[in-house]
Amino acid sequence: MCGIFAYLNYNVPRSRKHILDTLVKGLQRLEYRGYDSAGVAVDGGNDKNWDNNSKVIQLIKKRGKVKALQDEIYKQDSLDFDIEFETHVGIAHTRWATHGEPNAVNSHPQRSDKNNEFVVIHNGIITNYKDLKKFLESKGYEFESETDTETIPKLLKYMYDNRESDEISLSTLVERVTQQLEGAFALVFKSVHFPGQVVGTRRGGPLLIGVQSKHKLSTDHIPVLYRCGKEKKAVSTLPRVDGDTCLYPIGEETGVEYYFASDASAIIEHTNRVIFLEDDDVAAVVDGRLSIHRIKRTAGDDPARAIQTLQMELQQIMKGSYSSFMQKEIFEQPESVVNTMRGRVNFDDFTGTVLLGGLKDHIREIRRCRRLIVIGCGTSYHAGVATRQILEELTELPVMVELSSDFLDRNTPVFRDDVCFFISQSGETADTLMALHYCKERGALTVGVTNTVGSSISRETDCGIHINAGPEVGVASTKAYTSQFVALVMFSLMMCDDRLSMQKRRQEIISALRTLPDLIKEVLALDDQINSLAHELYQQRSLLVMGRGFNYATCMEGALKIKEITYMHSEGILAGELKHGPLALVDKLMPVIMIIMKDPTHTKCQNALQQVVARKGRPILICEKNDDESKLLAYRTIELPHTVDCLQGVLTVIPLQLLSYHLAVLRGFDVDFPRNLAKSVTVE
Ligand code: G6P
Repeated sequence: MCGIFAYLNYNVPRSRKHILDTLVKGLQRLEYRGYDSAGVAVDGGNDKNWDNNSKVIQLIKKRGKVKALQDEIYKQDSLDFDIEFETHVGIAHTRWATHGEPNAVNSHPQRSDKNNEFVVIHNGIITNYKDLKKFLESKGYEFESETDTETIPKLLKYMYDNRESDEISLSTLVERVTQQLEGAFALVFKSVHFPGQVVGTRRGGPLLIGVQSKHKLSTDHIPVLYRCGKEKKAVSTLPRVDGDTCLYPIGEETGVEYYFASDASAIIEHTNRVIFLEDDDVAAVVDGRLSIHRIKRTAGDDPARAIQTLQMELQQIMKGSYSSFMQKEIFEQPESVVNTMRGRVNFDDFTGTVLLGGLKDHIREIRRCRRLIVIGCGTSYHAGVATRQILEELTELPVMVELSSDFLDRNTPVFRDDVCFFISQSGETADTLMALHYCKERGALTVGVTNTVGSSISRETDCGIHINAGPEVGVASTKAYTSQFVALVMFSLMMCDDRLSMQKRRQEIISALRTLPDLIKEVLALDDQINSLAHELYQQRSLLVMGRGFNYATCMEGALKIKEITYMHSEGILAGELKHGPLALVDKLMPVIMIIMKDPTHTKCQNALQQVVARKGRPILICEKNDDESKLLAYRTIELPHTVDCLQGVLTVIPLQLLSYHLAVLRGFDVDFPRNLAKSVTVE
């Protein structure tokens, strides 16, 4: 969904071209999130003195891809691209339309007035925007877009026009504005009245700041300033930005660059030193000094924000020799599952210990709980479905697996002795985050299973597991799914490590975890075969995927992949439900992919296969290598290696990931940017 990127250079001379290229590159790194328009705001004058140029803000916005915006930028005859700025603030945004269609007027930055006095970029939704708009219109402010966002710069200008003193700071104004806003947001502001300054804030949406300087920095922990409350540190309207309360490069004539972004992948090529903002932090850069303010101190607040080192590598977010991120991420799975297990599963130990550091202090409490509730959306929900059976078996607890939105719609009863798992690749999905708040309010222990360190879900849960799959860029989730899967299996193993009666089963699973990466490689080697199957299927309108037991989740996940990127209709069907409806769809024209593995559901799956064949269906089997009996009835087969029942789903999903990828390519669609979909769904 929407993406935020802002770049401030202080005492580091940069040409306008460099600044614009940096902004465009930042947006390109955010493209994977999904968007339909983009825009930038930079200083607009062409004077030799950069200071004069910041009195005018130039907005350039465009519907469509970032490339279209880039072309538009270089069409601006009024801009001298070679001019240098000692200090400059540029802000940039990719918008995923929610309020109002994707067009230049609705895209961001949104502005306060025709003179662009205040401009803002926004991720999220302002739920009380209608009331704010009515109020502002009654004060004579004219609106030009259909967005909720436009109320923000206009409210800011209203606050500025009605300021009590000329000394007022941009961060104070922003604080006042955010107090009036309801909903979720991450915001970055720029203004002609505050040249060379940038302010960013968040509530419910991620925002981080990268810092880059050749000089030593004043601190690695930025103390938070409170306007009121216990600390009484900065009670005046002006932010205190003296030596010990802000970040700045030490020395004279020192330069520094700051990058504000909603996503680490836009920052990593510039710096790996970042500060993650917390909800209601207002971060301001004034004269190259970064300070962080909050209105008041509440119990449990961390009084400082640490500069952290991003573990991400630039090459992790580059496609390399692959044709798309999705393809790269599918082929990364032998390594990504190893990274999920690294340092956590002791394969050498005879007793096979599994230790998840993020859960160890809570495991006794979890063992005593009344039930486990596993909550997520999309693929993350499927990871819960995929592991439910092994969780039930090894924890002997009732396990509910819930779609976040439905869980909330039902006002599901949750109790203090429940343990709630929130599965989310991004850690930012709005519905899952709201479900987390809901469960927290009811006193349940909350556990995050995310791929994004520093994400809202990983920070707000009581404890959790980072799946460590590495950045996932393709909108259609692949490696995050198999890593979530493995993480939940590891959790179930950890839950029963003291149960004598389960040791044999545990050993069986642990040795299967050890061989899993090699088996994944074997499955990936079937790529050519799957590609030729895709050539047979790509003109079909519909594809059914059927299975049961440990492989039901694979059916749903496989069908989701096919829908997401090929736009073919696809349904994941529980084989046990075949006679209750889906059989009516089966005829000689309908392709049916059936997953039949050698586990206790084998015979039942074969029955389903017989029924499909009896209706002249031509089943495409995903089965085990030595299953000659099933192969006899198949129209086509994809033969997989054997593994323990509860991990089969990791292997059976891969042919479907590959199939959806090849189908999408053959149908001529953009695999990484499927229409209408976003990588991270940060609105309800
Ligand atoms: C979007 C993505 C899916 C993802 C789902 C949940 O729909 O396109 O790939 O599975 O959100 O996202 P999360 O980040 O919470 O796992």
